Amino acid sequence: MNLLLYGAPGSGKGTQANMLRSRFGIPHIATGDMLRAEIQAGTPLGLQAQPILAAGQYVSDEIMIAIIRSRLQQPDCRRGFIIDGFPRTIPQAEALDTLMDELGRSFNRVLYLKVSLEELLRRLSGRLVCPRCQRTYPPGTAACEADGSSLVQREDDKVEAVKPRIEIYLQKTIPVLDHYRGSGLVSEIDGMGTIEEISRQVLAAVAAPTTKTA
Ligand code: AP5
Ligand code: MG
Repeated sequence: MNLLLYGAPGSGKGTQANMLRSRFGIPHIATGDMLRAEIQAGTPLGLQAQPILAAGQYVSDEIMIAIIRSRLQQPDCRRGFIIDGFPRTIPQAEALDTLMDELGRSFNRVLYLKVSLEELLRRLSGRLVCPRCQRTYPPGTAACEADGSSLVQREDDKVEAVKPRIEIYLQKTIPVLDHYRGSGLVSEIDGMGTIEEISRQVLAAVAAPTTKTA
């Protein structure tokens, strides 16, 4: 099972990926989480990426493609994977096509979580994250369910970074959806309901036959 989660900042990619990971027992590959782990560890990549993420901009295609290339070759990806946050630009989408061909893999489904701008802003301003395991929680949650850590606000959820994040998504990432539309793999999910309602739609979309032509 190889799945691609697509959607704007705050659309619920991480939330639904958690559910899919538990359901299918395949890794959740979130490029934003990987970059935040590098920042936390203070690696050279983390030092380079920190100001870019804080400003709501994108890390270069070259770096991101190298990261995803190495991650998809890890042994835990053999049974499948859920990608979240990649590709975000057309060059990344083209590189992923090539990589999937090289690996002899193809996507079962591209899941597009569609959420209004108003709701995105509401969710991002209230989101809490676990600094240890990166799980996300809605406002008012006391501590991480998995490890009990106190929750914090993500640096790029501060108001000054949210606007550029949405702008760059509209400019560079919306065209990526068109890249996949022709494949017959895109399932549009109404991302405006409760987390449970959306999970039901996501699972139904994963189970439905694709209209992909061989
Ligand atoms: P990344 O971490 O991928 O951030 P993002 O795309 O902006 O998405 P988010 O993680 O903010 O939102 P989400 O869709 O996962 O929503 P969530 O489930 O948390 O990337 C961060 C940065 O890294 C980028 O800005 C860029 O700088 C860099 N980067 C990463 N990949 C890159 C790439 N490929 N190329 C270049 N740069 C890259 O939900 C949000 C909130 O809403 C939570 O509080 C959640 O509890 C709540 N929620 C979820 N669903 C619902 C619901 N149905 N109802 C009510 N609340 C809900
Ligand atoms: Mg996320």
